[in-house]
Amino acid sequence: MGEIKRIAVFTSGGDAPGMNAAVRAVVRTATYNDLHVYGIIRGYQGMIDCDFKRMETRDVGNILHRGGTVLKTARSQDFRTKEGRKLAFENLKANDIDACVAIGGDGTFTGAQIFSKEHKIPFIGIPGTIDNDIYGTDYSIGFDTAVNTAIEAVDRIRDTADSHNRLFFVEVMGRHAGFIGLNTAISSGAAAVMIPETETSIDQLIQKLQKGAKRKKLFSLVIVAEGNQNGGAAEIAAKVKEKFDYYDTKVAIIGHLQRGGAPSGLDRVLASRMGFHAVEGLLSGKKDVAVGVVNNKIKFTSFKDAISKVKKPNKDLIRMAEILAQ
Ligand code: F6P
Repeated sequence: MGEIKRIAVFTSGGDAPGMNAAVRAVVRTATYNDLHVYGIIRGYQGMIDCDFKRMETRDVGNILHRGGTVLKTARSQDFRTKEGRKLAFENLKANDIDACVAIGGDGTFTGAQIFSKEHKIPFIGIPGTIDNDIYGTDYSIGFDTAVNTAIEAVDRIRDTADSHNRLFFVEVMGRHAGFIGLNTAISSGAAAVMIPETETSIDQLIQKLQKGAKRKKLFSLVIVAEGNQNGGAAEIAAKVKEKFDYYDTKVAIIGHLQRGGAPSGLDRVLASRMGFHAVEGLLSGKKDVAVGVVNNKIKFTSFKDAISKVKKPNKDLIRMAEILAQ
């Protein structure tokens, strides 16, 4: 690998609060090490469209606390094609880019892995996704903020559920993962949680709700991760209502509210650490790996493992959630 003088940084896939803090850390650490940094607008699509922007220390001032991503993001279909990736590589070369920092989730890392193999350019990944479903790090950027947003929403729903003696099904994000669902359920005292990683049948769910009704529980909350096997909150609510109509039932979908907003303190620190160590990692010769924090220590995991290995929610937390929900 030749000497790295110019790097590019981009965000890709779903945005996550804290991505800006990571961009800032990348730019400032790189500048401190006398590297030139280019931001690529709209991720892989911007690489193809040659939308590059020189970034210096002052360009990342006043972004640390902002949600979304100042570099914008996209889910590029063109980058899935060989021709698209060839064009992207030509644009990187035309801008003398020696290495890239990719901030995003598993789709972003998959793209990076294919591209760096095809075109021999070093990539380093930073896990940025509210879903927290990236192997190789305890937490990904945006997860903590998203959970806090969901908790705040559920607390409000709890007030009205309590006032009207209702059963609420609240849907949170997590296309393939139940991390947001599980943490939100524990933190908001939900009666049950439906996540993709554990199988809970509608009958089992009804049994749980019946137990509560027997104890004269006046209202109840069920947290539904969007990716669970039984369908979304509306579908589950309808199935439950058919067999169990003790409560007046309502549905709330928190949706993209969870993706926006100022990053939490934890996310700001996590993103800063990851951005900083991504650049230091590149400079020390690391490539095709994602930076992570495991047991509060920086760890690098190959893209191959980060993509193919599945991170599962802590079983102990799942068991505890069941017991505390009684
Ligand atoms: O960022 C991850 C995620 O929030 C998933 O949980 C969700 O299913 C998906 O993104 C929705 O993304 P989009 O709105 O970009 O299609």
